[in-house]
Amino acid sequence: SNQPILAPSILAADYTRLGAEIAKCDQADIKWLHCDIMDGHFVPNISYGPAVVAAASRSTSAFIDVHLMIENPDDYIQAFVDAGADQITVHQEACPHLHRTIQTIHSHDISAGVAINPATSLHVLEPVLNDIELALVMSVNPGFGGQSFINTTYNRLQHLRDMREQYNANFYIEVDGGVNPDNIQKVTHAGADVLVAGSAVFKAPNIPKRINELRKRAQS
Ligand code: DX5
Ligand code: ZN
Repeated sequence: SNQPILAPSILAADYTRLGAEIAKCDQADIKWLHCDIMDGHFVPNISYGPAVVAAASRSTSAFIDVHLMIENPDDYIQAFVDAGADQITVHQEACPHLHRTIQTIHSHDISAGVAINPATSLHVLEPVLNDIELALVMSVNPGFGGQSFINTTYNRLQHLRDMREQYNANFYIEVDGGVNPDNIQKVTHAGADVLVAGSAVFKAPNIPKRINELRKRAQS
């Protein structure tokens, strides 16, 4: 939690030129790239699958941060590992056997994250806080890019940071949805270590410039 990490989400990128879009992120030396997988069941939208993650992974040396907004994520862990995922985050709401799912992710020698929706209590994370590398606090209802940040997220980030301390745990706190230049400072102050940004990055007229601006504001 020293230097916040900015993780551009390619959900908002121009897919006709994905490699060039990712290259613009690399010009600003991004450390993480966020990939949003939606199945039309867990969330009301379909995005893309392992083939696009594999293409993204081939085009950058950034850490590939895969966010699975899908039912039965266990069935797809191998496919996303093969696609180059460095970390797989599953939704608590989609995992009746969350502890086992985390073990399965770890068995592939990659990092495991758990995401929770805006209406899910943070307490559901308590049993696994010492088993995960990342907790993802959704700041929109997942399914679409370009939504506005839900303001109750600030308190949730602070609360989760307190829980991390109580549990002597070591995971990153990631926030996802509606992060922009106007709120990013408040979001990092509330406790986020990793900031996902889709539209704020890829809809900007100058992508590397916007990434640098977001990072600068996040650190201030
Ligand atoms: C939301 C996705 C987000 C999304 C963020 O369902 O999980 O990662 O791409 O997009 P913006 O930054 O546009 O809200
Ligand atoms: Zn996401």
